[in-house]
Amino acid sequence: MSNKRSSFRNRFSFYLLAIGSACGLGNLWRFPYIVGENGGGAFLLLYVFLALTVGLSLLIAELMLGRFTELSLLAASRKLVQSSGKKGYALIGWFSLLLTAIILSYYSVISGWVLHYLTQFVTSLYHEDSVQYLSKTSVSVLLQSGSLQFMLASVHLLITTTVVLKGFSDGFEQKIASLLPLFGILVIVLLFGSLSRDSNRDVLRFLFYPDFSKLNWSSLSHALGHVFFTLSLGFGTMVTFGGYLKGNEDHLPTIGLRVTIVDTLISIVAVLLVFPIAFSSSKQLATDPSLLFDVMPVFLSSIKGGILFGLIFFLFLWLAALNASIGLLETVTANITDMNPKLRRPLAASLAGMFVLFLTVFPAFSSSIFKNVSILGRSLIEFLDSALINVCLPIAAVGIVFVFVKTLKPAQREKMFVNDKMPTSIVMYSHWGVIIKWVVPILVGTALVMSLIGVAIR
Ligand code: TRP
Repeated sequence: MSNKRSSFRNRFSFYLLAIGSACGLGNLWRFPYIVGENGGGAFLLLYVFLALTVGLSLLIAELMLGRFTELSLLAASRKLVQSSGKKGYALIGWFSLLLTAIILSYYSVISGWVLHYLTQFVTSLYHEDSVQYLSKTSVSVLLQSGSLQFMLASVHLLITTTVVLKGFSDGFEQKIASLLPLFGILVIVLLFGSLSRDSNRDVLRFLFYPDFSKLNWSSLSHALGHVFFTLSLGFGTMVTFGGYLKGNEDHLPTIGLRVTIVDTLISIVAVLLVFPIAFSSSKQLATDPSLLFDVMPVFLSSIKGGILFGLIFFLFLWLAALNASIGLLETVTANITDMNPKLRRPLAASLAGMFVLFLTVFPAFSSSIFKNVSILGRSLIEFLDSALINVCLPIAAVGIVFVFVKTLKPAQREKMFVNDKMPTSIVMYSHWGVIIKWVVPILVGTALVMSLIGVAIR
């Protein structure tokens, strides 16, 4: 058992890790409902545009920071304190670390929901009328019971912590990630079923006809926050991954582009899967966190072999969620042990796991004990989601940009970006520099101001 994660990786396992960390509940669960919430096509277009410009640029920067310094984000920001004498810089690393822990607590609750549906599909096998049994499963059962949500989240977190504590994260993440292509195939098979619904014309118009009047004041921050969340940016995870590429000749911008494209395609497949079913159901379109869980069981129990498909679907979805949770807890643990090498991994991981478990109480009980808590007109879980992902995460991302700009000299950046065999990389280099240094901070600032206006005039 070692404190450090192994540093040598081949290219394929690197892709598995990076894509495995990017693809998770963010793509399948979160993306469809925020597209619904923000009116469809115009938001989708805005999202894809931001992913390929801002998201990709920041992904390259995080990987570069890691490859160059071979440090975790916290250690890199502390080093900056030493060289500049400004103590405040260390706050950037701490802020991002705390955010990672809080996001994991909320992520664990949703992973617990997945676990609940998985057990429902398993137990339905033992009922005579499985379809009838599954039709009774609804998110509201979960929402009413805070203790059930807390219990499920605890089981999920316990498994996550055990893996990280034992130092098995690397092997586990690679094994789970190597199953992702199978998950992809399953989703595509289901997609055929979903796309054959007669609601299709409306769905295609909803998703691909950009009606910009449907965007609202907070759409920009929703799109930006989700780009960071789904590409695992602002957490320092990609900085740690970049460290694995030390001494590796691969071209970072190409790696970043591939990861971004795969992640974006998966998100698009997710909306194509969910919306035809949602539109064909008689119920009104739910554009809240229950969307995926509302539509999938109904759809799965209506198709041939659906119970089995459902079981495998929720199993894969849970594994993807577990993979992401391991990545999140690993980020926290690696940062702590990097900072304090005397602290052994098992202790660091257990402490981090316990802290996250404590935080889990808030999202888990948000619709029961904390039902009456309303912040800016939102329930606790909705407020947490919005404050963490749409506000704090973009701020953390700007913090990382700052560490990056301060740590890497232009010549060092250029050396890692420009590849003589690729003339486009010379052109792209200057665009990338402008995006990182100017566009990201200005856009994040604008998005935050616009959301504030949205809240004020509501
Ligand atoms: N990108 C993941 C998803 O879409 C969630 C995530 C955010 C993540 N930050 C991470 C996963 C860090 C692993 C490590 O679900």
